[in-house]
Amino acid sequence: MEMVGIVGGTGLGSLIEGEEREHATPYGPVRVTLGRFGGRPVAFLARHGAAHTVTPHRIPARANLWAFADLGVRAIVSTAAVGSLRAEHAPESWAIPDQLLDRTYGRADTFYDGDLVRHLPFADPFCPVLRRTAISAVPDAAARACVAVIQGPRFSTRAEADVLRGAGADLVNMTLCPEVALAAELGMGTVTLCLVTDTDTGRDEGDPDAVTADLVFRRLADARPRMAAALERIVSAVPAGYAPRPLIDDEAIAHVLARPVMR
Ligand code: ADE
Repeated sequence: MEMVGIVGGTGLGSLIEGEEREHATPYGPVRVTLGRFGGRPVAFLARHGAAHTVTPHRIPARANLWAFADLGVRAIVSTAAVGSLRAEHAPESWAIPDQLLDRTYGRADTFYDGDLVRHLPFADPFCPVLRRTAISAVPDAAARACVAVIQGPRFSTRAEADVLRGAGADLVNMTLCPEVALAAELGMGTVTLCLVTDTDTGRDEGDPDAVTADLVFRRLADARPRMAAALERIVSAVPAGYAPRPLIDDEAIAHVLARPVMR
């Protein structure tokens, strides 16, 4: 059965027990755990490192996604903490987003920036098949949401949150870009289960759900058992023989995967 890639966000840094190994990539080594989860072989990667030491704009996203592709991963299921920009997304609820608004900058965000030019169609950044799978597996999650991805590591000002809302964003996060695009650039489909941890700048004066890093960590720690269970349901429901959308040609993917690794 095909290996599913799991990217564990904050609070899910050590989800899988298995063989932990260093995978060499052209972008530096990556720690991947190979094991079983949801009844299938999985490759697990902690986005912020096992002890949450990697800040969002320094996540080695190209190395992470290259390692998954090199291991033969085609479907990626990830988790992420998000702040809510709208009342309909309450703290402690979850969402399976369908859109991204990339407000990051200065991150290495493509595999096609030197010897080969490709332009990824990215109108629907998440895989529709994996989204349907996740929505069935977690029916109480909001089935549509636009996540604005900010640079961080600081949280937004009120003015910035207003701009994101005005631009159509429902949720805010620091990590889904460039990860989702890089996955698609290597022919992998992605779905993300987001946990709403806070109300970002707060709904009103003294809002106890206004974001702090402590609040995010606390909400994620509280939700860890149900996040892990939901993730397991999604992973086990990924269709056998899953094939991602052909958004990029096989020759381009083979070209990137043939790049020499850095040791
Ligand atoms: N991750 C969790 N909550 C967040 C927020 N309010 N802004 C950015 N990233 C977040």
